[in-house]
Amino acid sequence: MALLHYPMTNRKGEPITTAVTNLDIHDIARSARTFGMKKYFILTPIDMQHELVGRILRHWRSPESQAYHPDRVEALSLVHLVHSFDEIKSTIQAEQGEEPEVVLTDARSAPNSVSYADYRRELSDPGRKKPALVVFGTGWGISEAFYPEVHRRLVPVYGPEGEEGYNHLSVRSAVAIILDRLLGK
Ligand SMILES: C[S@@+](CC[C@H](N)C(=O)[O-])C[C@H]1O[C@@H](n2cnc3c(N)ncnc32)[C@H](O)[C@@H]1O
Repeated sequence: MALLHYPMTNRKGEPITTAVTNLDIHDIARSARTFGMKKYFILTPIDMQHELVGRILRHWRSPESQAYHPDRVEALSLVHLVHSFDEIKSTIQAEQGEEPEVVLTDARSAPNSVSYADYRRELSDPGRKKPALVVFGTGWGISEAFYPEVHRRLVPVYGPEGEEGYNHLSVRSAVAIILDRLLGK
């Protein structure tokens, strides 16, 4: 799975780069580990953000952290900090022998979106070879500039009010719900 901080949109729909938040590193890593992700990519093109996140990750890779918080260390070991989407694709290609199927998540509905039940069935097909990369956004959501990378799109998560109701989840909640729907027992 991947969490993008670029290319995002702001409240006016303009393209922006968002800042990485500490909660997104920790909480999403724990969901990623719980639901069996192979890797959790955090994408930001900004070097200063790499320094900051790198420092946090180094803290959680120290022998002291390993001794006091082994569960958290295990989850954070899935995190791969990258500068670009190409870096994610080439890492997956090198490890899995194939480029990933890129699956977009979004609170906005779009035609031809796949349901959780259908995509879950596809993922559990024992004959499936294609790696899947589920992509989550930050800010006001993923910019259309990213759409050429997208192969599939999951339907939004709706509450009891349905499509017309409020459905703006924090990305941390969206990750936990979506991974549970796709992979949970
Ligand atoms: C738009 S960002 C919001 C980030 C925000 N700053 C926060 O509080 O985390 C939320 C991301 O979570 C996912 N998301 C949020 N609500 C969703 C929904 N109802 N259905 C599917 N994905 C959703 C999408 O990946 C979206 O890009």
